[in-house]
Amino acid sequence: MVVKRESPFSQAVLLEKAQKRFEQSSELLPSLFSDPVVYELEKEKIFGKTWVFLAHETEIPSPGDYVVRYICEDPFIVVRTEDGDVRVLYNMCRHRGMQVCRAEAGNAAFFRCPYHGWTYKNTGELIGVPFQKEAYGDDGLAKEEWPLVPAPRVESIYGMIFGNLDPNAEPLEQWLGDAKFYLDFYFKKSSQGMEVFGAPQRWIFPANWKLGADNFIGDAYHTAFTHRSTVETGILGVPDADFHKDAPQVIAGPWGGGFVPNLPYQALYPEALYRSMRQHLTEAHHAIMDRLLWQSHSTLFPNLSFLNAPGVPEEGKVAPYLTVRVWRPLGPDRMEIWSWLFVEKDAPEEFKELSYRSYVLTFGTSGTLEQDDAENWSSITKVSKGMLARSIPLNYSMGLNHLKPLTDWPGPGTAYPID
Ligand code: FES
Ligand SMILES: [Fe+2]
Repeated sequence: MVVKRESPFSQAVLLEKAQKRFEQSSELLPSLFSDPVVYELEKEKIFGKTWVFLAHETEIPSPGDYVVRYICEDPFIVVRTEDGDVRVLYNMCRHRGMQVCRAEAGNAAFFRCPYHGWTYKNTGELIGVPFQKEAYGDDGLAKEEWPLVPAPRVESIYGMIFGNLDPNAEPLEQWLGDAKFYLDFYFKKSSQGMEVFGAPQRWIFPANWKLGADNFIGDAYHTAFTHRSTVETGILGVPDADFHKDAPQVIAGPWGGGFVPNLPYQALYPEALYRSMRQHLTEAHHAIMDRLLWQSHSTLFPNLSFLNAPGVPEEGKVAPYLTVRVWRPLGPDRMEIWSWLFVEKDAPEEFKELSYRSYVLTFGTSGTLEQDDAENWSSITKVSKGMLARSIPLNYSMGLNHLKPLTDWPGPGTAYPID
């Protein structure tokens, strides 16, 4: 995209002013949630150079297993090859650009392009070109020069496979920095690690992707209003809708999240899982757990969010769940939400089932809380397209001026009290 920076009316100049306004007075212009120019800049400056979650290794356990995943509009085949390696291949035939893999998930040793039949091994290697000799002559096509293109960078942590479009990006773990402590809370608490339970749910939704990412970082504030009725019906498994009080908010590198007071972990997890948690997490994690704080909602920049919460899968039972979600941008005013349930691999089957039901009831496609949130985010996106929305600032200053960081927070990063 070409941005004419010399024009005083160009979007780039307007954005620069918007940025200054945000830095000086924490005001944000709503058009940032629907402006096509902003979206193009986000693709280039964020999704073009940041680690983005693609898939979990347990989604492709056997040789040939694959899933198709995305970084914005860029499609990738995440596949396990015959020798057990994971490859991430750009889903575009090198002949005329057709998507060689048309299913979202499956098992294949080869991908054959539906257009003219070029065939690639699941390592990406081009091995078959119909009528090659007749079409290209004896020496006209060196197949080894035309493989499916691998993602510029791929790295994994906890079995979570991340891709990066920038070949010069810093290593994933280095980029995570202090965020790793908090990701350990979700993923390092079991001897066998976490697994994806069931297929991810996904749906397309008319809202800007940043609204979901922002909400999961730190908007415990909305629970008392948006989700009050859900809490009052007892679906959420928390005592009252005002539970965001006493909930520290933490920023650690590219990760931001909120903690909420809850029942002790040992009251909600099977005993063996609780023991495993204590064993695998550090003293600093224990100190947080012993304050009865749950690492609840969070976002890893730019578009990967997490929620660990108790649900009520059936009357008289409370079962926690961990949902992981990607806010995949599909344009300035549209996103695809991908939502996975993660459980401890070594959890009893009954716990996994109950956890899944807790998740589906609350944050599955038709979950009650998901529906509550959807209404807000689509409404904000809609109004942000208005002509006046370009000039009416929104107040993003909550907590910025009067709160002092906690001095006794056991984890890394900066923790703020909520009240
Ligand atoms: S586009 Fe794939 S074989 Fe022609
Ligand atoms: Fe919500």
